[in-house]
Amino acid sequence: MTIIRLPKSWEIPESQVTSETAYFNRRRLLKTLVGATLGASIMPILGCEQSSEANSALAASLDTASLKPVETNPAFAQVDRLMTDQSLAGRYNNFYEFGGNKSIWPKAQKLPTEDWKVEVTGLVNNPRTYDIDDLKKEFPIEERIYRFRCVEAWSMVLPWIGFPMKSLIAAVEPTAQAKFVRFTSFYDSEITPGPGLHIGSLPWPYTEGLRIEEMANELAFFALGIYGHILPKQHGAPIRAVLPWKYGFKGAKSIVKIEFLATQPATYWNTIDSHEYDFEGNVNPNKPHPRWSQATEKFISKGPGLSWEKRPTLPYNGYGEYVASLYVG
Ligand code: MTE
Repeated sequence: MTIIRLPKSWEIPESQVTSETAYFNRRRLLKTLVGATLGASIMPILGCEQSSEANSALAASLDTASLKPVETNPAFAQVDRLMTDQSLAGRYNNFYEFGGNKSIWPKAQKLPTEDWKVEVTGLVNNPRTYDIDDLKKEFPIEERIYRFRCVEAWSMVLPWIGFPMKSLIAAVEPTAQAKFVRFTSFYDSEITPGPGLHIGSLPWPYTEGLRIEEMANELAFFALGIYGHILPKQHGAPIRAVLPWKYGFKGAKSIVKIEFLATQPATYWNTIDSHEYDFEGNVNPNKPHPRWSQATEKFISKGPGLSWEKRPTLPYNGYGEYVASLYVG
């Protein structure tokens, strides 16, 4: 059994974890699309150190309830690089419902996670609405340490706690007509204002999708926790999708609905720009994003010292042995 215990180190300068061209490019895309003025709000994240008050608030946001100790799946107990420190992962997030920069963690604390329900519906024999306790009781909860790769060319290693998506498939029994699944994230314009006051035409709620065969793959995972605790809100509490061979945008956060469908659903980023964010979203060093290379990535970790290390991108993020057969032909 592995319980991840990482040192808490809240005092890392923001400037060391928040500089990347791809991030600004993505904001530029949103700006171009909706004609909004976003420039001013990105300035505060550059070069500013966290105050001790902010450090305490960050610590409080990450200090969520412990999950009872779970076994680490031995197939996913280690990877070829260091674990990312939770104080970095927990304040370097993409959660556009709460804003368009990486520093949304304070705003995300507004997410109302009490009495959360996840509706599983569509082309299934056993439709059902689960609460989070049902999920913890009825599905095999385990820990998995996965590489995580964002389309913006940064990466981390994260210890998720949750259950394989294939166990939900077994419980709800999709019918023969079901070929795709759609995940819908929480959305309430009062609580999740989006990246800017002027943006009204983004395709909310955030949705993502998979082919059924992808969802049934051994790697596809629903996370309820991270670093031994229930998910902090900035990571997509109380339940999110984790698909380590795909770019991070495929992993919808704060899921409220899971629908089994006959046809490929429209998804958030693919609707915004299908050339930049294809439906498949597989990590591929040989397929550049239209505006930047995917050949290398910046790996964010903290071992003996802070690391922001350039590494070659791995095909399928290093998980080809599990998933390459899904894409033959
Ligand atoms: N899910 C929702 N609902 N909203 C988002 O903006 N961003 C995606 C994904 N899931 C996003 C989302 C992107 S682009 C990434 S890289 C990951 O969440 C980031 O997850 P993290 O903040 O926990 O590292």
